[in-house]
Amino acid sequence: MQIEGAVHEDGRGPNNWDLFCQIQGNIQDGRTADIAADHYHYWKDDLELVHSLGVNAYRFSISWTRILPRGRFGEINSNGLMFYDKLIDSLVLKGIEPFVTLCHHEIPQELEDRYKSWLSPLIQDDFAFFAEICFKSFGDRVKYWVTINQPMLYTKFAYTMGTYPPGRCSTPFGNCSSGNSDTEPLIAIHNMILSHAKATEIYRNYYQPLQGGYIGVVVNAFMFEPYTNDEIGRDAAKRAMAFNLAWFLDPLIHGDYPAEMRHYLGGNLPTFSTGESNMMKDGLLDFIGVNHYSSFYAKDCIHSPCNPLESHPISGYVHFTAERDGILIGEKTVMPLLYVVPNGMEKIIEYLKTRYNNKPMFVTENGFPDGDVPIEQVNELLHDTKRVEFHKSYLASLARAIKDGADVRGYFVWSLMDNFEWTSGYSLRFGLHYVDFQTLKRTPKLSAKWYRNFLTNCTKIYQQNIRTGSSENNRQIMI
Ligand code: FCB
Repeated sequence: MQIEGAVHEDGRGPNNWDLFCQIQGNIQDGRTADIAADHYHYWKDDLELVHSLGVNAYRFSISWTRILPRGRFGEINSNGLMFYDKLIDSLVLKGIEPFVTLCHHEIPQELEDRYKSWLSPLIQDDFAFFAEICFKSFGDRVKYWVTINQPMLYTKFAYTMGTYPPGRCSTPFGNCSSGNSDTEPLIAIHNMILSHAKATEIYRNYYQPLQGGYIGVVVNAFMFEPYTNDEIGRDAAKRAMAFNLAWFLDPLIHGDYPAEMRHYLGGNLPTFSTGESNMMKDGLLDFIGVNHYSSFYAKDCIHSPCNPLESHPISGYVHFTAERDGILIGEKTVMPLLYVVPNGMEKIIEYLKTRYNNKPMFVTENGFPDGDVPIEQVNELLHDTKRVEFHKSYLASLARAIKDGADVRGYFVWSLMDNFEWTSGYSLRFGLHYVDFQTLKRTPKLSAKWYRNFLTNCTKIYQQNIRTGSSENNRQIMI
């Protein structure tokens, strides 16, 4: 949805963002994703851009309502299937591995209207139904599947703060017309975990044995450092990791929610039946997709006063801050949730490696935002030295984690080109390519050129190592 546009074309149905974007005040610049980067029409050119970078994998997301305009309650839209078919075929022809996300913040509006989407267990069947159509239609060529993108951050915005559709919350988190910030996020995540589980079981039983692919989930993974270097500080950081990361992964890998969550949320936290826990312990995850951008300090709110939002069970009694003793954790960017903290990459990978027994990982997103500027200043955006430095330093940190034994198998830049950045509209630009949203022209930024050179050099080193039999650095990763 962030790039496709063509929201009314070829039988695509309305999703949760279409209507939400029309309501004044929901999107920062008042714009919609109706056209976005018009990738639906420019996809061939866009794949040329992908190809010209020299990458060997491309991550994209399927728009649920392009395939099922009304979820399970209507027909399959063959035009939608055809669109992704062409895209996947072209990638494969170019030797680029498609890495496909099934649900990236988008759900059919029909499911919201019928049963409140993620708040109802009925969504598990809808999601499994949609996933199976994708496995059946594309699984001969798609070998990497992501079920859901960033469930926790999505849920936080949609059900705790009420800033993403369906815009539900309660005080003190926000002023929504309905919702319950204490309980609904927990129910939504529970349904997402079980939706992932159902889709994965189908894949494991009927598709994976024949198609031979892998299935995983993508989590938003901030790194939290203790604000104070004492027991209380370390506990706060542990709670922050549990409430923001392990919340989703622990059930899928260890069979239940983190103990800290159970302790502070009590009966509000849903439970898994023995059957469900056992099914999950069997490993309903082949890999962890890691979206890593930033680190924060976690400050304790049990023993010291915080604002009401953070002195709250659903927040794990933790306050996040980027500042300690007047010093920022890293350079500030135009996005409040993003500070440049390269060594956070190494630390988050290390955390996941330890907690999840070095399960294979892919860095599925990592990127740097610029603010939009008036057209006369576009040159500044094209000469994006800060983005280049960002990727260099985060990649170096990732390389250290890999040298230290972390099983990381790939790295994806966010993003190929500037796009619709959800509630920020077009005011933030993450692309390696600049998009003029008036003319839709794409222009490579300095970072695109740098990335191409970087990958060429990596390939050379890799081939040299293979020739000389050097054992160090000779595992080629998807990038
Ligand atoms: C992540 C989302 C992605 C994009 C980047 C900047 O949270 O997965 O869609 O918005 O942030």
